[in-house]
Amino acid sequence: MIPLSIPHLAGNEWTYVKECLDTGWVSTAGAYVGKFEDAIANFTGSRYAISCMNGTAGLHTAMNLLGIGTGDYVLAPNLTFVATLNAISYTKAEPLLLDIDPESWQLDLDLLERFLKEDTYLQDGVCILKADDRRIAAIMPVHVLGNMCDMDRLMQLAERHRLPVIEDSTEALGSTYRGRHAGTFGVFGTSSFNGNKIITTGGGGMLFTQDEALATRAKHLTTTAKTDPLDYFHDEVGYNYRLVNVLAAIGLAQMEQLPELINYKKRMDAFYREQLAGVGDIEFQQVTEGVDPNCWLFTFRTGRMRELLTYLNDRGVQSRPFWTPMNQLPMYAGLRYVTENRNANRVHATAISIPSSSGLSEAQLAEVVDTIKAFYQE
Ligand SMILES: Cc1ncc(COP(=O)(O)O)c(C=O)c1O
Repeated sequence: MIPLSIPHLAGNEWTYVKECLDTGWVSTAGAYVGKFEDAIANFTGSRYAISCMNGTAGLHTAMNLLGIGTGDYVLAPNLTFVATLNAISYTKAEPLLLDIDPESWQLDLDLLERFLKEDTYLQDGVCILKADDRRIAAIMPVHVLGNMCDMDRLMQLAERHRLPVIEDSTEALGSTYRGRHAGTFGVFGTSSFNGNKIITTGGGGMLFTQDEALATRAKHLTTTAKTDPLDYFHDEVGYNYRLVNVLAAIGLAQMEQLPELINYKKRMDAFYREQLAGVGDIEFQQVTEGVDPNCWLFTFRTGRMRELLTYLNDRGVQSRPFWTPMNQLPMYAGLRYVTENRNANRVHATAISIPSSSGLSEAQLAEVVDTIKAFYQE
């Protein structure tokens, strides 16, 4: 089986984890947490990076720190992994879905602009939905597959309508827009180190912010809101969302390899684009101008997606469909959905992800391509 997206653990992981085990520093205290946070902050240019147990916890924390809750809306794309919407739901706010651009698969900014202009108004510096006079508390762009939308335009729109931006940059570690790293544009950004991501800690996440007070609050809230190093005094309802030392040790070792992993993914992406161009009815995701993506998971569109999926999986080329759009999931089917052409649903019906694991050999990549070509020739 040529795997879709498995971890690449080829650096100092063993050495650092062994040190944790040898010294007994496996849990919530230990030096690797700070080292991992510093490595990510340095790499992305984020002023602050706060580790947490997964990307979802990071998104939830961001929303808590912005005071989002009952009665609020949060804008989010219809095509995303369910965790984006779950994090909103945990706060008792309601996701308000927006359609995506059919080429880049990111938020459709023309649609967003029209929606904000026609369907919302500002009251005392707060964005309100005309339909029911409820607050729209934030917007959550998702950098789908490490691509991004036109971030200059998104940030301008958000500012004009007083919408704090929480970037779901969980898939975009190492991606940049005009030289600036994903996750560093909004009030908050997030990374995920889930097993299939460009780097992994098994499970883990990172919250980015450029604001010192928010960074301090984020650390406090994700570590049970304890105020005293000795006494068990907690000044609010906190969360046990911290990343443990043994996982941060893996994360540090992975960070040391990140530039190399990004280079690998870019070569893989270039190879697939070159080899699959013009094959069958294949259409590639279009990279937004100004974006330098991390290319972590190669995904394309074809009208024969379901057939191809079965064909590849039957032949040992592990492939996956794309996320079911949020408005097709039972718990989110009733949400408001701003759309004209139901692009998210169309992309989902045609998109397929193919093996993109770092460390696949040239022969394996060629086998993937040959199997896809054979499918269209049959
Ligand atoms: C778009 C998106 N949002 C959120 C998450 C949640 O991250 P985690 O699995 O680390 O909680 C993921 C990844 O799994 C994701 O791909």
